[in-house]
Parts: sequence; structure tokens; C-alpha cells
Amino acid sequence: MSTNNDSWGSRIGLILAMAGNAVGFGNFLRFPVKAMQNGGGAFTIPYLVCFLLMGIPLLYVEWASGRFGGKHGHHSTPFILGSMHAGRIWKYIGVFGIFTNLAVAAYYCYLESWTLSWVWNSFSGVFSGKSQEEVTGVFKSYVSLDGPMAIITWVICLLLNTWILSKGLSGGVEKVAKIGMPLLILFGAILAIKGVTLKAGENGALHDGTFGLNFLWNPDFSTIWSPKVWLAAAGQIFFTLSVGMGSIQCYASYVKRKKDIALNAMSAGWMNEFVEVVIGSCILIPIGIGYLGIDKVVEMTKTGGLGFGFQTMPYLFQQWGGVFSIIAGVFFFGLLFFAGITSSLAMCTPCMGFMQDEFGWSRQKAAWAFGATILILGLPTVLYFNEGVFDEYDYWAGDVSLVIFALFEIILFAWVFGMKRGWDEMNEGADIKIPSFMKLIIQFISPLIIGFIFVMSLPDLWKNLSDFSSTPKVVARLLLLALWLAIAWLVRTAYYKRKREGRYLNQELKF
Ligand code: PHE
Repeated sequence: MSTNNDSWGSRIGLILAMAGNAVGFGNFLRFPVKAMQNGGGAFTIPYLVCFLLMGIPLLYVEWASGRFGGKHGHHSTPFILGSMHAGRIWKYIGVFGIFTNLAVAAYYCYLESWTLSWVWNSFSGVFSGKSQEEVTGVFKSYVSLDGPMAIITWVICLLLNTWILSKGLSGGVEKVAKIGMPLLILFGAILAIKGVTLKAGENGALHDGTFGLNFLWNPDFSTIWSPKVWLAAAGQIFFTLSVGMGSIQCYASYVKRKKDIALNAMSAGWMNEFVEVVIGSCILIPIGIGYLGIDKVVEMTKTGGLGFGFQTMPYLFQQWGGVFSIIAGVFFFGLLFFAGITSSLAMCTPCMGFMQDEFGWSRQKAAWAFGATILILGLPTVLYFNEGVFDEYDYWAGDVSLVIFALFEIILFAWVFGMKRGWDEMNEGADIKIPSFMKLIIQFISPLIIGFIFVMSLPDLWKNLSDFSSTPKVVARLLLLALWLAIAWLVRTAYYKRKREGRYLNQELKF
């Protein structure tokens, strides 16, 4: 029945695609902004602790669950989780693994289209001679849809994503990752070197590049116990590694049975951290602080969010003068584009996999249906950007939903599927020895940390839920709820369809 017999072409392709999945705007835009918002050095320790005690264990869990589900022909979380335990609830928990991807993709593709426009604007000299305020003005008029550019570029971006997806994993996604990832690292390294070697007094810089880095990496213990800082750090780890989303499970489900996942998971995960911590932190922060000073950057990141880089960098690059200012703009927004597209492709695969597995859709049909869904879901984020719809999507899909999903999936893996089986799954075909203390971390420490984070975020969640001050935001919330319910309904339909056709979820489990 399933038309889904795609698989990865090569190991390096798989690692690059997984790293491409993880490396995204999170690394270059979200990380610096979150770090600045949470006091620089005060953010780093919680960030690193969350990476080691929550990020790495979740990577193992998701790669292992994904490959396990793939063995039974499942490529999306409702039935990947469903194949790990017969309890009906797990299929519905799995709904989050499709929902998050669709909802994040809906606003992420819009962001991706900004980068395309900013490559073009940098290249064609739109920013030349403009002051900081004027560059911010270009950004504001762009997102206020003063001209047709924003919508046109967004649609082009959607079409591009859909077209690549329709080419499949090895023919589309893997190829883009093989070209995009090395280019991104090259562009990023050049800009990072320039950022770190910035000299106070040269070209109008106020501080050396190392000044901003010190702010970021000098541990600051004064606010280290602030729950807000911990929540932000944990949220960043989820977002940047793409854990708690469902897209890693989906990519891993296309890994062949006895092929390694232990080393692959670590290669892709650490590559993401290298890009975030080494390259990502050496661009926006040292250059921003170098020219604008700490206070101004802190103030701008408070209100500017992910738009911060779009409003500042084109102006700052101009200080370097001549051709390099154009090259820097094209490189920076070009690297963002590559980072973005390899991530948005990953967000699309789970829902495509689901339609292919359960309803026998062809890859092309699934890809175009996906494109159409994102067009509809994303439209409010484009039309009502200034009313906060974009941020509303980011909050529910990019902050809340992934914590809920991660909590359930790690409990399923360690306690329901069972840690012994889980450990065997992780180690099957492994090219490295996973240290045995990881078992304890997965079983006890990570679920506790994630549970704690969830409980801590409840007051904020309630506050957001009961905020009815803006109609577009309330409508956005209802739309997201409708999306969740629609996916759950599809899962239910697929489940009964399987039952009628006698297609078991795995050899041992009968529905
Ligand atoms: N990890 C990506 C980033 O850092 C975001 C992402 C979310 C990717 C969901 C895939 C799925 O930007």
C-alpha cells in the first residue's frame, strides 16, 4: 500500500541533511537574540547544561525511535510512536510531531523569504548610503507589505521548497544539503573571522570584536538561578537541535535497519553546536556590539526579535566600505537562506511521509499538498505580521508544543517501550560505544528536566492562552487548534483504515 520507499543515498548525505535540518535561523538569529535578552554570560551555562542533559539524550531517543518506526514502514511520529506501544494515546501524542512541523514551517518559510529579498537588496545596493534607522525603515515597510515584494518572494520560496521536496530525499533534500551546508560554513567562517577581528576605532567601530564575545561567554552567576533564563536556554536547545519536533524521527526512519545511528546522531548534533556556538555567536553579537554597544543591542533585541539581524547588519556591513560591504551582505543573507531551506525541507517531510504511508499518495502529490497547506497556514503570518500573528505561531509551535511532545516521547521510550529495548535499539549497528551513564540520563535526568521546564512554563502558557486583547492573535490560536484537530482526525482515519486492511503497526503489536 505504501508508496514510500525512499532512503538516503549516502552516509555523508544523511549527516549533512540532519545537520541541515538542525542548522537554521535558530543558530544565526535566534541564539544571539536569546543570549542578549537573557544577559549574555548568564545564558551560556544553562544553555550548555541543557544541551548535555537534555539535547543529546533526546537526539539519541529520536534517532532510535525513528529508525525503529522506519523498520515497520512508518515515517511520521503518530505511527512511529504507535509502533512502540499499542496504547492508543501514543498515536495522538504523535500528532504533535506533524503539527509542530507544519506550524513552524508556516512562519519559517516567510522568514526564509526575507533572506532571499535581503540577498537581492544587498546585491542591488538598496541599503547603500542608508543610516541604521533607514535600514530599519526598509524592513518595516517590507513587513507592512508596502510593496508586492514580500508576498512574491514568499510564494517563490514556497514553490522552491515544494519543488525540491517533490524530488525526494536523495534526489532533492540530500543534494541541497550537500551544496548548502559547506557553502554556509564557508560564508559563516569568513564573516565570523571578520566579526572577531573587528578593531575599535577602525571604520567607526566602538569596540573590538572580542568585547561582544566576552559579554557572551564570560559566565555571569548573578542571574543563573532565574527560571526565565533556564526556560529560554532550554527552549533554544529544543529549537536549534530540532528536537521535540518530529522531523528527526522522520529523517531517521529512512535510515536502513542495521545502519549506525549512534555516531550519526552525535555528528549531526555536534555539527549544529559548532555552527551555533563557534560561527553563530561570532557574527551578530560581536559586530552588533562592536558598532552599537551593549545597551543598544540589548534594547534592540528586546523588541526586534528575529528581525534584529535584518535591521542592523546591512547598515553595519556598509561600514566596511566598497565591494566587501556588498559581499558581506550577500554572504550573510545567503548563508541564512541555505540554513533556512535545509530546515524547512525537514519540516515538510513528516507530513509528506504520513500521507504517503497511510493514504498511498505519491511523493509529488504529497509535496504539492504540503505547499498548498503552508500557503494557507502561512498567509496570516504574512498579512498580520505587525499584529503579532508570526510571534503567536512561534510561541505555540516553537516554544510550547515541542516541550509537551518531548516529555511524552522520552517517557514512552524509557518507561513504556522500556529502557532495555531502547538501549538495544540505540546500540544496534552503532559505530561508537555510547557511554552507559547515558542510560541513566535518558531514564531519569532528562524526563525530570523536561517535566520541570513544562511545569515552570505553565503560568506563562496560561497568561498567553487567556489573552484576548488582539483578534488576529486569537484567530491564529484557533487556526492552530483546528490544524491539530485536523491532523488528529487524519490519524484516526488512518488507524481505522489500517485495522480494516489488517496492516499491523509492528510484528508484535496488533493495533
Ligand atoms: N532547528 C532549526 C533551526 O535552528 C529549526 C527547525 C524546526 C528545523 C523544526 C526542523 C524542524 O532553525
